[in-house]
Amino acid sequence: MNWWQESVVYQIYPRSFKDSNQDGIGDLQGIISKLDYLSYLGIDVIWLCPVYESPNEDNGYDISDYFSIMRDFGSMSDMEELIQKSKKHGISIVMDIVANHTSSEHRWFKEAQKSVDNPYRQYYVFKPNTGKIPSDLKSIFLGSAWSLDEQTNSYYLHLFAKSQPDLNWHYKPVRDELYQMINWWLDKGIQGFRFDVIDLVAKDLDQNKISDGPKLHDYIQELNLNCFKKHSILTVGETWGATTEKAKRYSNLDGSEFSMIFNFSHILLDQEPGKEKWDTVELDLVKLKKVFNDQQVDLYQKGWNSLFWNNHDLPRIVSRWGNDQEYREQSAKMLGTLLHFMQGTPYIYQGEELGMTNVKFESFSDYRDIETQNMIRDRRKKGLTDDQIMASIQKIGRDNARTPFPWNKSDFGGFSEVQPWINMNPNYSLINAQEQLGRVDSVLEYYRKLIWFRRVSNLKDIIRDGQFELMYSDHKDLFAYKRILGSMELKVYCNFHSHSIHLNEDVQTMKLILSNYDEIDSNHGLNLRPYEAIVLEGKGNDL
Ligand code: GLC
Ligand code: CA
Repeated sequence: MNWWQESVVYQIYPRSFKDSNQDGIGDLQGIISKLDYLSYLGIDVIWLCPVYESPNEDNGYDISDYFSIMRDFGSMSDMEELIQKSKKHGISIVMDIVANHTSSEHRWFKEAQKSVDNPYRQYYVFKPNTGKIPSDLKSIFLGSAWSLDEQTNSYYLHLFAKSQPDLNWHYKPVRDELYQMINWWLDKGIQGFRFDVIDLVAKDLDQNKISDGPKLHDYIQELNLNCFKKHSILTVGETWGATTEKAKRYSNLDGSEFSMIFNFSHILLDQEPGKEKWDTVELDLVKLKKVFNDQQVDLYQKGWNSLFWNNHDLPRIVSRWGNDQEYREQSAKMLGTLLHFMQGTPYIYQGEELGMTNVKFESFSDYRDIETQNMIRDRRKKGLTDDQIMASIQKIGRDNARTPFPWNKSDFGGFSEVQPWINMNPNYSLINAQEQLGRVDSVLEYYRKLIWFRRVSNLKDIIRDGQFELMYSDHKDLFAYKRILGSMELKVYCNFHSHSIHLNEDVQTMKLILSNYDEIDSNHGLNLRPYEAIVLEGKGNDL
């Protein structure tokens, strides 16, 4: 058993968590000031989105120096203080390693631009300008993945923005530099890493293979040998191209690669096949059940799952697959229940524990995200109307997750005393931490319970190790499953809709563990009200 198999991770997007010096930008001292809140919630680990020096074209995912802290966020001594103080609270820090690319402001890239025979040239992917663009490869942030470097009259590769040139992992010195940097952070007391878009690093342009390049697993194993082996750390790879089959290899139990990956196969289900992320379709619950079932069953005793609905790139789950109006609280709790009783390590993204919703800003200029801004230009060019574009942004855009954390209902939600870098979600006077702290039926207190069940309660073994068995696999509105360990059994029922569901189940002999309504309705079967979630415990064999 590894410590991270019974941990709960909390993801912090530092820019939007807490501003300590009233410049409208969240920072490290802000996080330190909220460690008591995180302790109260009961989490074990903070995944800290990038805090390194960066020109912030992509909010820190464009690093110009891996060894210093972005001025907006504070200093290295603030970072050290955060590591120390977190430890006192029993919280570990996981850093976000962005190593597929650097910022174009990174010293390596500036050197590489100086001349074709500069020693850093091979750190990146350059192609001579022969009068036409090297290939029609597209950037994930739209437009070509090649930009011209005028100084040396060459094209360079960037799978993301122009200001995020891709590193050349096939050149060993690049990998060695990265290992050194990772070890340097380990020496500072970091207890894990999240690896940004790690399945892109081994791209093989000759074979036209961008994700999952042929050498990918060799590189991950090398990284593991050079950096992870001596430590007991949590490592998680961001892998948009992963399937459950691939997850097995990445998280295999011999510990030669990662602890786990982010497998997005569930969260991509509302994207229209073959289209862009902006083109969404209605979620098919039967498919969602199938995907989760595959993840849970296939990785059982073969690998390890991460469990997540949200992150800084995804819209808020309660708006996406719950109900962010009348049943906001019920559906937020239902979605939390569904995830937290599965096998794996749960990740809570800041504000998820309050049931925060998507945001509808009035004008395009209120949006800060580079991906969103690029998409607006691209879709206007393609002839879409502003209304159509706005609808997609409000549904799926990344800024939905990036509005500042609402601590209370005072001006700017107690996040800052000045206008933040991005607007607050206007509903902050209703949805904020202060309103929910200690209110027994709040989403926040419910999340505390979810965390407690997994970390402390006598159900912790079955939550960690129990076998997963899907029930009612064809039911269109109900997601229900069992967890089984020895003679113990848990049953989880989740109603995904605003109408009631009646089930012919006799649950009288089972014990109620958790529910998102005051009491359950088990007269003549089990009746699930809108977005109701119920967890029951029983002796498997007696039923
Ligand atoms: C990852 C990050 C995202 C970033 C991109 C490029 O997907 O999560 O925020 O824009 O990589 O680094
Ligand atoms: Ca600040």
